Amino acid sequence: MTLRLGILASGRGTNLQAILDATMIGELKAEVVIVASDNPKALALERAKERTIETLALPGDRIDGQKLEDRIIKAFRRERVDLVVLAGFMRLLSPTFISFFRHRIINIHPSLLPAFPGLEAQRQAIEYGVKVSGCTVHYVDEGMDTGPIILQQAVKVQDGDTRESLAERILHQEHRLLLEVIHLIAEDRIYLEGRTVRERRSDE
Ligand code: GRF
Repeated sequence: MTLRLGILASGRGTNLQAILDATMIGELKAEVVIVASDNPKALALERAKERTIETLALPGDRIDGQKLEDRIIKAFRRERVDLVVLAGFMRLLSPTFISFFRHRIINIHPSLLPAFPGLEAQRQAIEYGVKVSGCTVHYVDEGMDTGPIILQQAVKVQDGDTRESLAERILHQEHRLLLEVIHLIAEDRIYLEGRTVRERRSDE
């Protein structure tokens, strides 16, 4: 069975692009069925349209959060979305949205959580002076970047790194990590035990 993906993105959409490219060459048993954004100008929407994927553009600054989520839920249910992927989505989802897709929403975050949750994680890492940062893919719960961690990738902070140079190296790893997690979910290879994500043994 092909995993039907609903993507939420607010910006340039390079993570979305990585998913689109991988699904196109059959690298993932998944298909992007809809891309929604709270920013009608998001480049992510253009990337979806180029592949003739359905899009939903919502003016996040002009409609209230509840209405925005209702529209997304309606569209995602209509498209029978199995997994919601937050790929640079700059809003906190409400408990109602999360309960609709409980354990079926993942997020990519550019730090090694629980360090540096929230906005500008790469800047936070540089300012703190850590020697290692990275990225995390996690299930989404009601908190800010607090859900169960699925996979993480460390990235070394180099002498002279700026927020931009670190962000660029992390982004490269984000694309790979996100695809790896979608692959694990599409193959039904992970499950939750409490808040710990475990991988099934191949003989299970
Ligand atoms: C990424 O760094 C992601 O971790 C964060 O927002 C950024 C989105 O990048 N949540 P893109 O829009 O996928 O290029």
